[in-house]
Amino acid sequence: MTALQDVLHPAGIQASHIASLWGFTVAICAVVFVAILAALFYALGRAPRADAATAPDMASMDRPESGTRRIVVAAVTLSIVGLLVLLGASIATDRALATLPLENAVHIEMVGHQWWWEVNYDDPQPSRIFSTANEMHIPVGRPVLVTLKAGDVIHSFWVPNLHGKKDLIPGRTNTIQLRADKAGIYRGQCAEFCGLQHAHMGFVVIADTPEDFAKWVDAQRAPAAQASDEAVAAGRDTFMGKPCAGCHTIRGTQAAGTTGPDLTHVGGRAFIAAGLLATTQGSLAAWIADPQTLKPGNNMPLVPLTPDELRAVSAYLASLK
Ligand code: CUA
Repeated sequence: MTALQDVLHPAGIQASHIASLWGFTVAICAVVFVAILAALFYALGRAPRADAATAPDMASMDRPESGTRRIVVAAVTLSIVGLLVLLGASIATDRALATLPLENAVHIEMVGHQWWWEVNYDDPQPSRIFSTANEMHIPVGRPVLVTLKAGDVIHSFWVPNLHGKKDLIPGRTNTIQLRADKAGIYRGQCAEFCGLQHAHMGFVVIADTPEDFAKWVDAQRAPAAQASDEAVAAGRDTFMGKPCAGCHTIRGTQAAGTTGPDLTHVGGRAFIAAGLLATTQGSLAAWIADPQTLKPGNNMPLVPLTPDELRAVSAYLASLK
């Protein structure tokens, strides 16, 4: 599963506003750059007014040069006008970003943790609220209002294909409005240094068609799948009997910890460990066997398991689609 992370390929209206401002700024700066180079080469190419044999004409030292002054005044004026135009474009972009219509918006809460993303889907009915991690599904064409909070230190939400950055600050609630206009998978990245594994604090935004989004939401609201065979059931029992259940929630079981990501449907997610590894039974096993080698400093402790237990637990988690 490859995900796009590219400011220059906007997939939503907010990112389009930003990309347009970028294009306009580059165009103006390109004109200025070319003009300055042209002036430089003109000056370099002028016939020399002095050489070893001819002394320089210093007469202009005491004589006002009205032509030169006019050129300098014109250049300063043009620079000020250019900067004011860029300022105006920037303000206009800011206003456009702030006025995204929010009727019928999807409400999502994102909480930044060292070093993963908790994603909560709000609903007026408490039984319909659900939580996932490091993966946000949104419907194409519908506005999304994301509430941003931080659990520990400052993080920053950034999905370049959909919008600019917005910080998640402990004790404060920020919001960001976005809309995906093209279905696709877009990579997001924490954009504020937040500790050792800041670089491994990625996530994906999956922009689904409205039908696919509705299906996904229904599937996420459902409690975890029942164990399909004996090996998976053994893995579930190991998970519940070990410290795993104290840190993670699996809805529909007695596991109700809130320190780590909700694992109710972990097997259906594209990645584990905040974008570090594609989700497979093998990567789940590798992660559980030695989380501190794969992602040093993260809060997942090593829970000693026998090889059989490791195989069973990873099979159980992979089965939670
Ligand atoms: Cu979270 Cu950087």
